[in-house]
Amino acid sequence: MKRLFKSVVALIAAFSTVGCCSEGCADAQLSKEDAVLETIMTRRSIRDYKAEPVSREQMAKVIECGIYAPSALNLQPWAVRVVDAPDFIDGVTAIAVAQQPELKDDPTFRNIFRNASTVAFVACPEVSYSGEYDCGLLSENMMLAAWSMGIGSCCLGSVVPIMMSDEAKPYLDRLQLPEGYKLMVGIAFGYPEGDVPTAPERDASKAYYVE
Ligand SMILES: Cc1cc2nc3c(=O)[nH]c(=O)nc-3n(C[C@H](O)[C@H](O)[C@H](O)COP(=O)(O)O)c2cc1C
Repeated sequence: MKRLFKSVVALIAAFSTVGCCSEGCADAQLSKEDAVLETIMTRRSIRDYKAEPVSREQMAKVIECGIYAPSALNLQPWAVRVVDAPDFIDGVTAIAVAQQPELKDDPTFRNIFRNASTVAFVACPEVSYSGEYDCGLLSENMMLAAWSMGIGSCCLGSVVPIMMSDEAKPYLDRLQLPEGYKLMVGIAFGYPEGDVPTAPERDASKAYYVE
C-alpha cells in the first residue's frame, strides 16, 4: 500500500513537472525573443570607448558569431583581421592626423578608430558573387553579438581610405589579406564611455507589404 502511494505521488510529481516544463519552455522562448529584439533595437554606433581593449576571449565569441552569418552558397567570402596592438592603432592614427590635422582639434581625440582599442577589419574579394552583402551580414552579427555582451561597436568606412593610402601600406600589409581582397570596413569595438546615444530616426516608409 505504502509502495502504491509512493508510486502515485511520483506519477503526480512527474506530470506536474511536465506541465511546469512546457510553461517554462514557453517563458524561455519568450525571453529569448525579447533578448534578441532588445539587442537589435538598443544597439547604437558607439563613438567613444574606455581605453582598455576588448578581452580576446570576448572577441573570440564575437568573431565566432560573425562567421555564423549566412553567406551565399556558404562561400564565407570574408577575411576578418582583429587588431589590438597599440603600435598599429597609434601608427594608423598618426597617418590620419598627418592627413587631417583638424582631427586633433577634438580634445577627447585619442585615435582614428573613435578611441577604440580593438578594431576588426573586414575584407571581401574584389570580384565575387555577393561578397559585400555577406560581409555586411557578418559585420552585423559581430556588432549585435558584441552589444549583447556589453561591448559597443561602430562601423568605420572612413578608415578605409586611410588604410589604403600609400603611407599606411605597412599596416595594410600587416593585415595579410588574401590576394584579390579589398578592405570593406573597420569596426571599432570597445567598452562604451559615456551615455549610449539615442537612435537616429528611421524612415519606416522604406519597407512595406505589397498587396
Ligand atoms: C558601412 C558603414 C560605414 C560607416 N562609417 C562610419 C564612419 O566612418 N564613421 C562613423 O562615425 N560612423 C559610421 N557608420 C555608422 C553610421 O553612421 C550609423 O550606423 C548610422 O548613423 C545609424 O546609427 P546607429 O548605428 O546608432 O543605429 C557607418 C555605418 C556603416 C553601415
